[in-house]
Amino acid sequence: MTSQLSFEVRPNPQARSTAERERVLEAPGFGQTFTDHMVSIDFTEGEGWHDARLEPYGPLVLDPATSVFHYAQELFEGLKAYRQANGSIVAFRPYANAARFNASAARMAMPELPEDTFVESLELLVQTDREWVPTTEGHSLYLRPFMIATQAGLGVNYPSKTYRYMVIASPAASYFAGGVKPVSVWLSTEYTRAAPGGTGFAKCGGNYAAAFVAQRQAVAEGCDQVVWLDAVEHRYVEEMGGMNLFFVFGDRLLTPALTGTLLPGITRDSILTFAADLGLTAEEGRLSIEEWQAGCESGELTEVFACGTAAVVTPVGSVKGADRAWTIGDGTPGPVTLKIREELMGIQYGSRPDTHNWVHKIA
Ligand code: PLP
Ligand code: COI
Repeated sequence: MTSQLSFEVRPNPQARSTAERERVLEAPGFGQTFTDHMVSIDFTEGEGWHDARLEPYGPLVLDPATSVFHYAQELFEGLKAYRQANGSIVAFRPYANAARFNASAARMAMPELPEDTFVESLELLVQTDREWVPTTEGHSLYLRPFMIATQAGLGVNYPSKTYRYMVIASPAASYFAGGVKPVSVWLSTEYTRAAPGGTGFAKCGGNYAAAFVAQRQAVAEGCDQVVWLDAVEHRYVEEMGGMNLFFVFGDRLLTPALTGTLLPGITRDSILTFAADLGLTAEEGRLSIEEWQAGCESGELTEVFACGTAAVVTPVGSVKGADRAWTIGDGTPGPVTLKIREELMGIQYGSRPDTHNWVHKIA
């Protein structure tokens, strides 16, 4: 699909001053402050996508009966713009996000957006707000494309006939305040994130809404994050709240296979692809919590890490469940985890060669 739309550009007359922006960029946190502009494109059944625009960042006015508020017909994406050492600004595999956006859209009975329009919308926002892309090492501009159902009315016989696609952007430091400090995880046997035939593979807000209660339980149990297990037996590991998982057996990596109930992470796919470049083998498969614990106890399972756009590569140090608890290795970040993190960030920030053609120059 090629892009037929041209974007109207409405600059923000109240864009923040250099001093204000620099104050934010000193300690951006994650998803707290947004840049001066946003992108919107509307969709109407029969007419298609129209009114593409870049406009000042600001609130929306929507009828209280708007479908998204009641039936959560919504989806989102997440990717980052990185400032490389040579000064250029790049995105990492944005066409992969465009494809996943459309896979989510199909599952949510929402319209697909041409991939070129998706990428063009990111380019326009990042180019306009380029001063918001942090220069600090390890920081980035987090991009959040999303789509909502905008038809007003409470009927559920038919999906909304109108939608809005938007992109907002937020300067980001590390998702986890501790940087590469290992996280502790809680095995959720009480709650299920996704079941076969459900929406687990789609990046829809409802998956996250249903996860908060388990995340809150994880924190109450003294853990940082929840680990989701399969819906049927509550034994097989699926993923974390916003990250995929990798298990390291010496120089062999194992990650849960894409069964339809977990998100097909782009970081996960990238690691599966570049593992061989680092002399590692990588495979998709299945691991039960019993095998996880036994592997750690025998020493065969040497490291575990989580990966995702926001979390990058984060070691998992310890595991706790209703009836079990154990540590992974000695609880500190392992060498394979650190090597993978360095390779990934090296490609993203430009210090390592981009042999897989993943880096997309924006500015
Ligand atoms: N799993 C879930 C539930 C997520 O929300 C994310 C974050 O996007 C991921 C995995 C990792 O995906 P990606 O590597 O594409 O960011
Ligand atoms: C991401 O890594 O982009 C995510 O979506 C994780 C989370 C903030 C939902």
